[in-house]
Amino acid sequence: MPPSLPAPIEISPRGALTGRVRVPGDKSISHRALMFAALAVGTSRIEGLLEGHDVLATAAALRAMGATIDRDDDGTGSGTWRVDGVGVGGLLQPEIALDMGNSGTSTRLLMGLIASHPITATFVGDASLSARPMARAIEPLARMGAAITASPGGRLPLMVRGLCPAIPINYTLPVASAQVKSAVLIAGLNTRGITRVVEPVATRDHSERMLTGFGAALTVEQTNHGRIISITGEAELAPQAITVPGDPSSAAFWLVAGSIVPGSDIRIANVGLNPTRTGLIAALRLMGADITEIDPRTVGGEPVADLRVRHAPLTAIEVPPDLAPSMIDEYPVLFVAAAFAAGHTLARGAHELRVKESDRIAAMLTALTACGVPCEEFPDGLAITGTAGEAIPGGATIATLLDHRVAMSMAVAGLHAARPVTIDDASPVATSYPGFFASLDRLTGDET
Ligand code: S3P
Repeated sequence: MPPSLPAPIEISPRGALTGRVRVPGDKSISHRALMFAALAVGTSRIEGLLEGHDVLATAAALRAMGATIDRDDDGTGSGTWRVDGVGVGGLLQPEIALDMGNSGTSTRLLMGLIASHPITATFVGDASLSARPMARAIEPLARMGAAITASPGGRLPLMVRGLCPAIPINYTLPVASAQVKSAVLIAGLNTRGITRVVEPVATRDHSERMLTGFGAALTVEQTNHGRIISITGEAELAPQAITVPGDPSSAAFWLVAGSIVPGSDIRIANVGLNPTRTGLIAALRLMGADITEIDPRTVGGEPVADLRVRHAPLTAIEVPPDLAPSMIDEYPVLFVAAAFAAGHTLARGAHELRVKESDRIAAMLTALTACGVPCEEFPDGLAITGTAGEAIPGGATIATLLDHRVAMSMAVAGLHAARPVTIDDASPVATSYPGFFASLDRLTGDET
């Protein structure tokens, strides 16, 4: 992805957010749809794919390994993606380094893909991704026989030399990570025998659902020690027609904006409501948010509904730590909701925030403090004292640190601030939500 120049944006209150918005396709599901389609024998079609930089990095890497991936434009702007897969075991040696940009999901899942193929690939990424820990994926994949040479600290750039046939393993996840779980399961696809992952704490289960849809022999067992996911290797995947639901992690920004800006009333169309992703909705409801689900349905094997959010007074809560895995990407915007609640919100139990696209505890502490919101830092979260619905002071420039969710969260905070909030670099939003600012303009009637 060509690096774009920093794009500062100043956000000031624009009044209520009203009307209808459609969020882009789910990022997690989009990555998986491309990867599994690239491993199927034949042509898959994907509707609603997220066309953000992260997912495009996955597409480029899969093309470099032999898959044919094209976008058919239907003239309405919403294209269908067509993927001609190479079959499990059929990936080719890439001739270039795989540029993962900002995307941890692309990196860890593709490491798993390569680990059981007879190919060698080098992974590179931007400054944010190159600071993130990869040992968590390296460790199980090395047990399966892959030879992985990483930069100091287990970081990118790194090189994976796959082993074929690889060795099936039984692996208990030491950290709750859907990326690591998925990396091992994906490596297991081309590994003779049964590869098992035990997850003591349930994480997003899109890989399990979609691999089953593609015809892999995959079982999930709920035990006292957690979920045991077993995949039978040397799988043959059948091509699919996939519809990607809207991303609840993108809907999160409108759920919070609608809750905190007086007079707001937003309908968010087609939001994925997989229970492993809905922690923020549960937390906001505990705070008193007015969120209703309309027309619940199933799309592509995932629960989906429209959501209506109306402005409501929020009250501080102690966020139940067991919600953390199902809202891990939503803490930055939850912290913003807490800044407008009455009282002292305590959100802990989320150590993993330290190793996301930025250290999201430190980044949001700095950002909210600069905007005049009293915060206290813990190793695993923040305590935040809210305004009970009043505007926050604002008047600061926010360092977004190549982190899309910090940028969008602080843009939401600026919608109810006494003085403007400046996002130093809004370009990272294109990793997950390229149309974010255009949708904000539409919801506030600022369209030109
Ligand atoms: C993802 C899993 C989560 C999440 C990330 C996407 C996925 O990461 O934070 O944005 O698609 O599997 P971890 O699995 O590292 O928690």
